[in-house]
Amino acid sequence: MLADYQLKMPKNINAGEHALEQLAGIIANGVKKIVIFTDKGILGAGLVDVPKAIIEEAGIDYTIISDIPAEPNYHEAQAMIDEFKKQEADFIIAIGGGSVMDVAKLSSILATDEYTVKDLLDEPLLAKKQITSLMIPTTAGTGAEATPNSIVGVPEKDLKIGIVNPEMIADYVILDSRMIKNLPKPIAAATGVDALCHAIECFTSAKANPISNTFALEALDLIMNNLVEACTNPEALKAKSDMLLGSFYAGVAITSSGTTAVHALSYPLGGKYHIAHGVSNAMLLTPVMKFNEPAIKDLLAIAYDRVVKNGNKDLSVDEKSGYMINQLEEMVKVLEIPTSLKTFNVPEEDLDGLVAAGMEVTRLLVNNKREVTPKDARKIYLEIM
Ligand SMILES: NC(=O)c1ccc[n+]([C@@H]2O[C@H](COP(=O)([O-])OP(=O)(O)OC[C@H]3O[C@@H](n4cnc5c(N)ncnc54)[C@H](O)[C@@H]3O)[C@@H](O)[C@H]2O)c1
Ligand SMILES: [Zn+2]
Repeated sequence: MLADYQLKMPKNINAGEHALEQLAGIIANGVKKIVIFTDKGILGAGLVDVPKAIIEEAGIDYTIISDIPAEPNYHEAQAMIDEFKKQEADFIIAIGGGSVMDVAKLSSILATDEYTVKDLLDEPLLAKKQITSLMIPTTAGTGAEATPNSIVGVPEKDLKIGIVNPEMIADYVILDSRMIKNLPKPIAAATGVDALCHAIECFTSAKANPISNTFALEALDLIMNNLVEACTNPEALKAKSDMLLGSFYAGVAITSSGTTAVHALSYPLGGKYHIAHGVSNAMLLTPVMKFNEPAIKDLLAIAYDRVVKNGNKDLSVDEKSGYMINQLEEMVKVLEIPTSLKTFNVPEEDLDGLVAAGMEVTRLLVNNKREVTPKDARKIYLEIM
């Protein structure tokens, strides 16, 4: 029997060609001091200019915190939060990818000196929402604008760890495809495959349920049919806006279901070798899907019927499932994302450590429909060595 299931998600979602202009209305009711979280790359790309102009027009005081490093560890995240606390803001705007949004989300529940990020690593549910937050994603993407998760590196464990607390769910989201229009291709490709992994993992997760399936399947449809076009054609605005929507839906699916062994085994690659989150997921996607296939082929066949336009409904389950896995592999190849740990000089002697660290991510491994033993994890890592 299906266990009980639920969904929590942001209360206000603004999407569309001119969604950014909705910011004026959002901050109109009594906001006194805004902190904008962003990073140097996004600032340099001019993506803060329009929101800044809207805030200035409204005459609201603001500070920009732009020192957030890509994929921060918990010490770096805490340093940003400490800077944030000095500002005494009553509204947070995150303009960025997952790295920026995750720090902003932690800030929204750590605005007083009561707890630190380290406390939440031990007990994630300690802190409550203190500051209203708005997420404006600039990658498509992590879906962090939808989720209750914040992922930080934990150097002493050579791992990345997800802090999950529903109080971190954003109050407002703005999805405006202008924010991803000029995303450099390698970033668009890696972050797009991250969203693809969220969709396929959530759909095949042991925690999948009718609500998460609705979002995961629509996400998969949008992402598989737009990812390559969005990454390779700078003018493909419709494909880019579908990617933004797809990555948001995939984030909603994460919240109700959960990712599986791709993300679990990916965390040590980010934690120890600082391989970008989307790239490490892309490497593991095909090996893990092939490993999982015996347990999920019926689901992959359902996904085929939904996603493959003009597909042949009469194919067998094995054929449909095989086709889907081939397509995933092909997309990673076409997008020229590295598929071997050799690219990152990971020595084979590190294999035992990788297996041990990967097996620690039980929060996600329990979602995998086929049990992953240390021997299985070793085989999967060996495939990408
Ligand atoms: N909270 C969640 O639910 C969740 C889910 C998945 C991943 N994550 C985490 O998110 C982080 C990764 O986030 P990400 O993949 O979005 O990348 P990112 O935020 O680390 O950004 C990567 C790089 O892209 C640049 N960039 C971003 N948008 C740009 C744009 N529009 N134009 C030009 N440059 C741009 C940034 O400056 C940065 O240098 C990881 O720490 C990962 O673990 C969180
Ligand atoms: Zn991810």
